[in-house]
Amino acid sequence: MNTEYNMKQIAAERAAGYVQSGMKVGLGTGSTAYYAILKIGEMVRAGLDIQAVATSRASEELAVQQGIPLAPIRDIGRLDLTIDGADELDGKLRLIKGGGGALLREKMTAYRSDRLIIIADETKAVPVLGAFPLPVEIIPFAYEWTIQSLKELGCFVQMRRDREGAMYETDNGNYIADCRFERISEPEELAARLKGIPGVVEHGLFLGMADEAIIGYRDGLVRIF
Ligand code: 5RP
Repeated sequence: MNTEYNMKQIAAERAAGYVQSGMKVGLGTGSTAYYAILKIGEMVRAGLDIQAVATSRASEELAVQQGIPLAPIRDIGRLDLTIDGADELDGKLRLIKGGGGALLREKMTAYRSDRLIIIADETKAVPVLGAFPLPVEIIPFAYEWTIQSLKELGCFVQMRRDREGAMYETDNGNYIADCRFERISEPEELAARLKGIPGVVEHGLFLGMADEAIIGYRDGLVRIF
């Protein structure tokens, strides 16, 4: 029987197979993207010639360790492909992302990519988004006001904290409000309302962005949709 980590690895390694020499590649963040970066690193050491950008400091460090060439944003232009994980995905390839706190850089990278491939284990595929608390990146200034505005959308808000109990800070110096809706039946409407709140930098709903999902299953199978 495969463990959850095998499921992630199976999906990630399948996605790495899409990367070809000459491509500009976005590297995702999280425990599934980790396996993709390891595999791409192995391919680079075997002669694959790519340029990459990372969606977080953690992925950047891993990419450097792996010998993956990183290009400055100013030089790279559009990306051919980004491979990234997700916290939830539904049948329309709508996603919740940001469990690892990298949603802003992930969304910016996905937006500048011709193709976004999502890699996940089977537990991430859901009929309706929302059981996973939606991460929302907010400005530290007057964050209490922003929390109030978020609550008015009908969710329970928990500010993310680090191991020491201090406010968790993103790579961009912002906070994360984890918003528990339980069930997000109209993600597009919610996304528009979130964008309308001053103080919200970005939210973890990725709608109309993913082109393909590669899901690893407990029994070792991979399904692509
Ligand atoms: C980070 C993310 C990750 O892709 C998401 O949290 C999934 O992570 P994992 O692969 O560890 O389950 O959005 O901001």
